[in-house]
Amino acid sequence: MARLKCAVLISGRGSNLQALLDACAKPGFPAEIVAVVSNRADAGGLERARAAGVATRVIDHREFAEREAFDAALDAALRKMGAEFICLAGFMRLLGAAFVTAWPNRILNIHPSLLPAFKGLDSHEQALAAGVRLTGCTVHFVRAELDDGPIVVQAAVPVHPGDDTERLAARVLEAEHRCYPLALRLVAEDRARVEGSRVVLDGTTGAVSALINPEPG
Ligand code: GRF
Repeated sequence: MARLKCAVLISGRGSNLQALLDACAKPGFPAEIVAVVSNRADAGGLERARAAGVATRVIDHREFAEREAFDAALDAALRKMGAEFICLAGFMRLLGAAFVTAWPNRILNIHPSLLPAFKGLDSHEQALAAGVRLTGCTVHFVRAELDDGPIVVQAAVPVHPGDDTERLAARVLEAEHRCYPLALRLVAEDRARVEGSRVVLDGTTGAVSALINPEPG
């Protein structure tokens, strides 16, 4: 089976990009990364892409007067680089409705909370302020609204006593690095079907048990 040709869009250090690169390097993985595009020339993830031999491109949003023009340049670059699918991995620009519509159910994003809780920036600050015992991360199909769209994979991560945002973010990030490759595999194997606002998964058994925090007893 042909591998799904993915582009990864980044703005920063690219640890999720690295998790995807590592997964795609494994024999039999059903997707490959054909392009990494950043809106920032100083994004650390660009070096990770180069080290993996993946084509990179910088499209600086500040060079465009309007979002639509930036989105159009991005769309053209992605198609030229041979992308069939897009993974957003710490990409700090909102994509407009026209762009999202032009890639129907062809864009995934990862967000560091259990959506629909704690959308937007500062998810970990929001989780700590709310006093939740469990937070986590979500990989979802992208819609034009921020951090919205059918959910493919989630991981629940406990909040520990004394956590600050850095410690919590580091624990959630480990889960992100497991969830994103899993979500991409499910999508690339055509096992994640969008039905309305939900994703129906084929051939997965679902959660094995409850994660309770604090531990009972
Ligand atoms: C991750 O926490 C991701 O969930 C969020 O931005 C962060 C990107 O980190 N959207 P990295 O660049 O993948 O290391």
